[in-house]
Amino acid sequence: MGGGGREHALAWRLAQDDPSVSIVAAPGNPGIAELAECVAVAPTDIESLLQLAHQRRVDFTLVGPEAPLAAGIVDRFREEALAIFGPTRGAAQIETSKAFAKALMREAKVPTARAIITTEADRAKGAAREFALPVVIKASGLAAGKGVIVCESYQRAERAIDDMLVGHAFGVSGSEVLVEEFMEGEELSVLAITDGENVLPLVPAQDHKRLLDRDRGPNTGGMGAYAPVSLATSELIREVIDGIFHPALAALSARGHRFTGLLYAGLMLTPEGPRVVEFNCRFGDPETQAILPVSDLGTSFTDVLAAVARGESLPDGATCAARGAAVTTVLAAHGYPEKPRAGDPIRIPDDLDDVLLFHAGTARNDAGRLVTAGGRVVSVTGMGESFETAQRRSLDAARRVEFEGRQFRSDIGWREIARIAGAS
Ligand code: AMP
Ligand code: GLY
Repeated sequence: MGGGGREHALAWRLAQDDPSVSIVAAPGNPGIAELAECVAVAPTDIESLLQLAHQRRVDFTLVGPEAPLAAGIVDRFREEALAIFGPTRGAAQIETSKAFAKALMREAKVPTARAIITTEADRAKGAAREFALPVVIKASGLAAGKGVIVCESYQRAERAIDDMLVGHAFGVSGSEVLVEEFMEGEELSVLAITDGENVLPLVPAQDHKRLLDRDRGPNTGGMGAYAPVSLATSELIREVIDGIFHPALAALSARGHRFTGLLYAGLMLTPEGPRVVEFNCRFGDPETQAILPVSDLGTSFTDVLAAVARGESLPDGATCAARGAAVTTVLAAHGYPEKPRAGDPIRIPDDLDDVLLFHAGTARNDAGRLVTAGGRVVSVTGMGESFETAQRRSLDAARRVEFEGRQFRSDIGWREIARIAGAS
């Protein structure tokens, strides 16, 4: 379910596991159409999706984006005894309500930034001044990655608070805000498949949220990612599983919201250890495009997803190894992230070797020509034995995929490069 680069990568991985697999995508995209039958149903049209799943007798449904999870698709499918991979609406609150997530972390003693949660502007402004600068103002609800403002002055914080609580800039998503302490460090995305108790972490990745090279420019949905990340040693991942995933999952279960599916921990690696920036209740985009090509579960990825979708336990001691390195570069449309332009013809060379090309915001126009149709248009994942090879292949491919006004970063993985240079 879904039609972005993440879903294209998921479909690719399912087809990799078993080339005879039959996939129905709703709504999919022109890239997914090469692997699956695409049906034009919106991911939030739950009743139509239910019908489709019954009609095609699907073995299980895999949900890509958060919106259908927030709308309770898993609850509805389970009512009808359909296997589905993803959390219930209640469990999805770990992403859909930052206030819920913060309270849960507090209760479960999961390390995270100190925060004050309020619906009142005066209280929020007073709280902001109790924090050192920069101070972070966040809308509690879903805001497509735009609801977080890192404020360098108290005036800026007050403006952000007024925008959210008085001006309703994010609608109901911003009717409650978090005033939060700024955390210093490097970010890491740890994505883990879970049955609610057992945790199977995939290869850790690092996202690049800013539009421009060297992490400048506005925040985006993500301009690139790479995996593995050498900072994420097995000791660190152990610490994250024991100190973050297990207590968070136990606290969810204790509240009657057992979480099954994919839990994504966005971490800040601070001098005091890993701390949670946010949780997501689904695969990350573009992390998935880098993680799936290098994650070796020693068994079929599809079987693991299917088992969790059916409500079964993960095999005891399931682990995931990294096979090589992957670097994903996103090509975004002219005007992204503010006002992406649609309709620009896209040219994809047919000799892109050692890279995977995933579609996101693409469409076929009336003449059958591939054109831009969204903010993030395509992503290219370069693979190789070494990080440097993967990075070079990703960048070479990005340069060769052409459309008017395309934007991409040429430095995905620059922190990893700096570490490699520092180590030699
Ligand atoms: P979120 O939507 O919560 O992941 O926030 C988006 C981005 O804002 C994160 O990926 C971080 O780069 C940044 N951010 C959010 N909260 C904090 C924080 N407390 N300290 C530092 N950076 C933050
Ligand atoms: N890349 C960040 C996310 O998927 O939320």
